[in-house]
Amino acid sequence: MKTLREYITEAEEKRVALGHFNISNVEGFWAVVNASKRLNLPVIIGVSEGERDFIGVKQVKALIDTLKSENLPIFLNADHTYSVNRVKEVVDAGFDAVIIDGADKSFEENLRMTKDSVDYVKSRNPEVLVEAELGFIGKSSKVWNEVPEDADATMTKPEKAKEFVKETRVDLFAPAIGNIHGMAKNLKVNYEKLDIERIKVIREITGVPLVLHGGSGITDEEFKQAIAAGISIIHINTELRLAYKQGLQKSLSDDPDEIAPYKYLRGARDAMQAVVEKRLALFNNL
Ligand code: G3H
Ligand code: ZN
Repeated sequence: MKTLREYITEAEEKRVALGHFNISNVEGFWAVVNASKRLNLPVIIGVSEGERDFIGVKQVKALIDTLKSENLPIFLNADHTYSVNRVKEVVDAGFDAVIIDGADKSFEENLRMTKDSVDYVKSRNPEVLVEAELGFIGKSSKVWNEVPEDADATMTKPEKAKEFVKETRVDLFAPAIGNIHGMAKNLKVNYEKLDIERIKVIREITGVPLVLHGGSGITDEEFKQAIAAGISIIHINTELRLAYKQGLQKSLSDDPDEIAPYKYLRGARDAMQAVVEKRLALFNNL
């Protein structure tokens, strides 16, 4: 099977993007796995610190390992990791990739913790990919009452991105280009605000594949433009959380007497799977 790095290179060549989907339980796991199998596409399963504390760091890795005999292109990423110690934990557990997130720190502090992470990861296994962020893209995958004021506060400056990537030797880079975690409550107010030109410049100047965070709420047209400009991985979380909750609410109200979790959780899992399939199809021009 190809490595994650090879799948990313292939995505760049084909001008498509890999989907990265966050999970925190087994329903989420099956939603992503089933969608990947159904569309025959590689995917990345992401778990933030909170998500992996809930499902279990070793447990989520063990779940992915159960797919080994089927040779499925499903990779595991430690999303938004805020300390070098927690980077060590996931690399030791055998994750395929990790994001060291020092975006709310000073440039120097972010640089230092990213370098320390890269040194550790590469000494353990050079195949594990390290991603870092520079610029503000928010922290919470939740539904906002309105688009946060600071959504376009600190976009990544290309020259700083160049220096950062060169110094840290990260494999992947997540820029702030108008994207923000979470989405606005009234979905009709989806805002078109990605700085497409900035993506092009940052891809060119850093020389590494770019990751678009905060995918929920971005319009289809903007996704296409972002991929064409140089984005090769896209993160989706809030849309999945919302689908899960709404799917669960529907199951519970459709059959209030049902008490078997494997029955009433089916609606939640299927609602998540539908979102994953829709996004994968878009990212891969299907
Ligand atoms: O790392 C996770 C994401 O960037 C997800 O962002 O919740 O806006 O989809 P989102
Ligand atoms: Zn993110």
